[in-house]
Parts: sequence; C-alpha cells; structure tokens
Amino acid sequence: MSATSDQPVLPEPPAPPDPTDPESAAAPAAASAPGGDASGRRAPIRSFVVRAGRMGPGQQRARAELGPRFVLPFAPEPPDWDAVFGRRAPRVLEIGFGMGDATAQVAAAMPEMDFIGVEVHPPGVGSLLRQIGERGLTNLRIVQHDAVEVLRHMIAPASLAGVQVWFPDPWHKKRHHKRRLIQPALVALLASRLVPGGRLHCATDWQPYAEQMLAVLAAEPLLANTVQAYAPRPASRPLTKFEARGQRLGHGVWDLVFVRRPD
Ligand SMILES: C[S@@+](CC[C@H](N)C(=O)[O-])C[C@H]1O[C@@H](n2cnc3c(N)ncnc32)[C@H](O)[C@@H]1O
Repeated sequence: MSATSDQPVLPEPPAPPDPTDPESAAAPAAASAPGGDASGRRAPIRSFVVRAGRMGPGQQRARAELGPRFVLPFAPEPPDWDAVFGRRAPRVLEIGFGMGDATAQVAAAMPEMDFIGVEVHPPGVGSLLRQIGERGLTNLRIVQHDAVEVLRHMIAPASLAGVQVWFPDPWHKKRHHKRRLIQPALVALLASRLVPGGRLHCATDWQPYAEQMLAVLAAEPLLANTVQAYAPRPASRPLTKFEARGQRLGHGVWDLVFVRRPD
C-alpha cells in the first residue's frame, strides 16, 4: 500500500528504495505494462513491489494451519475450480486484497458466491487466512502471486461472475504511471474472463487515477458502463483499509461498475 505525495519531478536522481513504500522503489525499465505483452529481454513492469513486512504470530499460525487448504499455488493452467470449492457457484476474483478485511466481510455476507483473492503481500495473506479461520469461511481461496499471471493462466475465459479491484496502488508519480493496473491490456484481459453480464468493480481515492479508469474502461469494447460515469458506492463494498486511510487524508472516492456486454 502506497502513501506518497504527487510530485513527479523529472529528471531526478534515483532515491534509495524504502521497503514500506512501493512508489519509492525504482521502476525497472521494461517493454510492457501490467497485462501487456512482455516482449523483449527485460522483465515486465509489475504493478506491485513486494514490501518487507513481518507476519505477526496470529498470521503465522493461520498460514501454517490454514494455508494448505486455502492458498493455491500458482499454476500454468486453470485448476478445476468446482473441485477446489467443492461446488459450482458464481465466482468473483479480487485483485490486491491488502490485509483482506473487506474481502472477508464480503465473502461472509455472500455465502452463495465463491471468492478468489489474489495478493502478493505475505502479511496480507496471513491476515486474510486468520480471518477465514475466525469467521469459518469456506467460500474463499487465495493465490499469492501476480494477478496478471493468475488471470492469464489460472482463470478460463468467460468464467467469472465478477472482478473487484478496490484501491489499487495509485502510483502517483508520472514516471510510475506505467505500473498502474488499470490499463488497456489488463482491462481487455479482465473483460475476457467475465461471463456476459459479469461485473467489473473498481474503486479509487485518487482522482487522476479515477479519470484514467473511466477512460480505459469506457474504451474497452467488451464492457459497458452501468451508469453515466462514476457509480454510487455499491452497498456491497465495505470500507477498505486503504479507503479509510484516504478518508483520513481528506480524499474523495470514485467507484466504477462496468458489465461485460452480452455476446
Ligand atoms: C493500495 S493496496 C489496497 C489494498 C486493499 N484493496 C484496500 O483497499 O485496503 C493495493 C494492494 O494490491 C496489491 N497488488 C498490486 N498489484 C498486484 C498484482 N499484480 N497482483 C496481486 N496483488 C497486487 C498490493 O500488494 C497491495 O496490497
């Protein structure tokens, strides 16, 4: 989770990376953006930096006890998700659940749906596992991996009832904008994974990113906006940790709810 002021100053000398702030890490040069083709020899640009952070004892215990059942290893092909969940139910994927509080709340409120949470931050995975244990959830699984690769390899086309991307890292600095998740290539990939009528719900507290989201989502031919521009906050979205931080800083919030057009 990032917390920097928006001061895109170019050129500037490389700052030493701050492990608690993904936006302070030097962005590697690369030939693509999240969701784009990683052509060329350089590593693809990632939308995240895996930050240092220790798991607390409760998170470690949850990881050891519940990890084997609830955390799926990355796989190059889709697993049999019906077998994973032990039933066939509408499935929702969340990118970047952070510490997982909102994810656990939504999964508890919608037992008729199954949820796949994707996150790269190890303490976040431990935190969500702890909440799975505390709430006795059975309709939630975690993949600890880059969501772009998870979508590409582990999720079949036209298989998701919904995707939620709540408060993705805003990557304030101009030279880091290429790291933002919501870009044309990733949105095309996301849209292809939704069933017709499936819902893509994004939210951000950073207005320039909201404007980028609106432009990119509106330009994706497979998607249609459910409203004119920004959606009223859906009752189904709990306050997230990152959103609460934005509120303390006096930020606004923008929700965007699009659906995949019928075939
Ligand atoms: C700003 S935080 C928001 C967390 C949470 N959704 C909230 O609102 O509190 C964004 C999260 O997305 C995760 N993330 C960013 N890119 C990702 C990717 N490609 N795959 C998986 N997780 C990612 C980061 O590790 C971080 O925890």
